[in-house]
Amino acid sequence: MVGSGGREHSLGWKLSQSPKVDIVYFAPGNGGTENNIPIEVDKIDELAEFAQKNNCYTVVGPESPLALGIVDSFGKKNLKIFGPTQKAAQLESSKIWAKNFMKRNDIPTASFEIFDDPEKAIEYVKSINHPVVIKADGLAAGKGVIVCNSTAEALSAVNTILVKKTFGEAGNRIIIEERIDGVEASYISLSDGNFAIPMATSQDHKRIYDNDMGPNTGGMGAYSPTPIINESMAKKIQEKIIDKTIDSMKSEGTPFKGFLYAGVMIKDGEPYVLEFNVRMGDPECQPIIMRMDSDLYDYLMASTEGTLSSLRPVDWKNQSAVCIVLASKGYPEAYPKNEEITGLDFSSEGAFVFHAGTKRENGKVLTNGGRVLGVTALGNSLEQAISVAYSAANKINWPNKYCRTDIGKKGLSHL
Ligand code: AMP
Ligand code: GLY
Repeated sequence: MVGSGGREHSLGWKLSQSPKVDIVYFAPGNGGTENNIPIEVDKIDELAEFAQKNNCYTVVGPESPLALGIVDSFGKKNLKIFGPTQKAAQLESSKIWAKNFMKRNDIPTASFEIFDDPEKAIEYVKSINHPVVIKADGLAAGKGVIVCNSTAEALSAVNTILVKKTFGEAGNRIIIEERIDGVEASYISLSDGNFAIPMATSQDHKRIYDNDMGPNTGGMGAYSPTPIINESMAKKIQEKIIDKTIDSMKSEGTPFKGFLYAGVMIKDGEPYVLEFNVRMGDPECQPIIMRMDSDLYDYLMASTEGTLSSLRPVDWKNQSAVCIVLASKGYPEAYPKNEEITGLDFSSEGAFVFHAGTKRENGKVLTNGGRVLGVTALGNSLEQAISVAYSAANKINWPNKYCRTDIGKKGLSHL
């Protein structure tokens, strides 16, 4: 398992339950994972050497090694690996590539213009009178998107990305797109290049504070399933977005294997793609994995081998799952590290703590990142899952612990 977040902990935890898996190694892993290998996710040659020596099937969690071409490199060495090639990963690694792909293949998304010249971008912003969202083209750890409420904010966003280069080279080009005000949800599917099956539905909570206030983060909590995507909406998203994307990627000669994540905005009963990710969501992965009753290994391997259509649909527990992210105060900006985490040794029926930004030192578990833990719980209803997750989350402590107190409420209000 390549990666070190809560997503990777949950995928590895599930894979280790498969009778077909002897051992799960994590590279580099975190304070909650075992069999950690000290190789960073971008050290592709070292990872390949380890995989070869230990006869591994490699599963890639985060986007950065995918964008660097880990799947292509492993493929050349005949090493089995799960995830998309570098070209297919452009769906996430270049937002402009993704927007142009959607446009030429009639996949519903917000209308947009592309700029590299700040003066032209400013002229354009001044000439329109609808709200916009401004996005840096490249990977910017979820931060390169600025949702604007006024012309002044849009002008300042152009300045931040194209002039000040706050996101570095990722901001050499920008997208200025129409803002769509609707309800947002995550639709994650698994493809083998020819065919895609849906995962369970979920909803993330991207803003740092309760009631979706404050800056965007990687995700402060998630739950599954979400009532926002009912059966008919799921069918619509699967056909108009997922199947169309998989078919078009194949016909353009860049077949997509792996998890295809569509961040969608639903407005007036129609879904629009806000972004594609080419991997599982974090923290969406944690509640989705908690609900999975099938053998994850079978599905990942079928994606790699192109045999997904021969498998039965995934079995999901008929329960809700909620993941509450415990973060370090200050995230998504600067935050303290190396604080001792206490209260991890509780036992709670139906709850599990996935680690993210943690490390082990002298028998202690210390904070080591912005998003530290993902306390994940099952319940017979969303309400119950929320309550089990929060009572587990309340047992865990460190000086600068922070979490939202309203994870899942968006789902309750929709029910
Ligand atoms: P992205 O990384 O592209 O998903 O953008 C991050 C967040 O910005 C999304 O989760 C949305 O909340 C918001 N966002 C992005 N694009 C739009 C849009 N066209 N209209 C409204 N909100 C958007
Ligand atoms: N939770 C959103 C993401 O993984 O990008």
